[in-house]
Amino acid sequence: MTPQAALHLVPAAAAAEFGRDLLDCLRRQPHAIAPKYFYDATGSQLFERICALPEYYLTRTELAVLERHVGEMAALIGPGAEIVEFGAGSLTKVRLLLDALDSPARFTAIDISGDHVNAALAALRGDYPGLEMEAIVDDFTRMETLPVWRVGHPRRIGFFPGSTIGNFTPEEAHRFLSTASRLLRGGGLLIGIDLVKDPALLHAAYNDAAGVTAAFNRNLLARANRELGANFDPAAFAHYAFYNPQQRRVEMHLVNQAQQEIRLLGQHFVLLPGEAIHTENSYKFTPESFAAMASYCGFAPAAQWCDPERRFAIYWLAAG
Ligand SMILES: C[S@@+](CC[C@H](N)C(=O)[O-])C[C@H]1O[C@@H](n2cnc3c(N)ncnc32)[C@H](O)[C@@H]1O
Repeated sequence: MTPQAALHLVPAAAAAEFGRDLLDCLRRQPHAIAPKYFYDATGSQLFERICALPEYYLTRTELAVLERHVGEMAALIGPGAEIVEFGAGSLTKVRLLLDALDSPARFTAIDISGDHVNAALAALRGDYPGLEMEAIVDDFTRMETLPVWRVGHPRRIGFFPGSTIGNFTPEEAHRFLSTASRLLRGGGLLIGIDLVKDPALLHAAYNDAAGVTAAFNRNLLARANRELGANFDPAAFAHYAFYNPQQRRVEMHLVNQAQQEIRLLGQHFVLLPGEAIHTENSYKFTPESFAAMASYCGFAPAAQWCDPERRFAIYWLAAG
């Protein structure tokens, strides 16, 4: 195996995991599957379109906070840092950070969507020719097993923008932060968090008028047809997203509208009208709840920046 190939989750293993998890989702009630399966090349392109939608305040708000305060963030991070980005996607935000940092030592982008992150990294390499960088195409919830930690570095910084942590269950978020605080010891984590706010704003952000979020949601089933030879009719599923204030999360579901007989990897399932698949949660945080969780998981929340309307926050979590 070449060193390059060692950095990639073997596509066959990724497809097998998708198949196992989708079978498990269809077997159990209520049906639910991890949101990471949205992100094949098509899903990543749809997500890029979501980021540019007028209703999707998250990306432009986080970018504005970064633009305004990146000098302070870079000063806290210090010179010669190694940056590891989780769920790196298009690498737009890290450019602001790299531009502000004093002599960054190395950059690693971790993302499950291989074609997308590799193309983004090729563009980044062209623009930052002196910076050593690599992409790791794998699941960041397995972060301790990834080759990024091979060689010790005195100041390793995690970068986790986009409020992707909101897609974890509270237990998964605890596990992720606890592992990160251990692996980033001596450095820290710069992390973007979507804050609780007017439910109408949240509702609009996940129910855009152009229907891009609906297409993103349905791509999960279209992907299953492409990669696993399933026969879902994605158009027969309604996109249903709403804010659940008790759980402080936006939930996304696909609600079947017509009886379908699904073939998947040699198994048969009947999906009835009204039967739903829970595809994503996006938890929202109060500044207090997030800081408490970060502290519990071993970080010291040392600085926080917010937009004037207090929609989105970026935290600097020092890992002692
Ligand atoms: C909400 S998007 C955020 C993208 C980008 N960081 C931003 O701030 O706009 C989530 C990103 O994480 C990646 N992702 C989701 N689940 C993942 C997982 N379990 N392991 C690795 N990458 C994952 C997706 O492919 C996608 O690029």
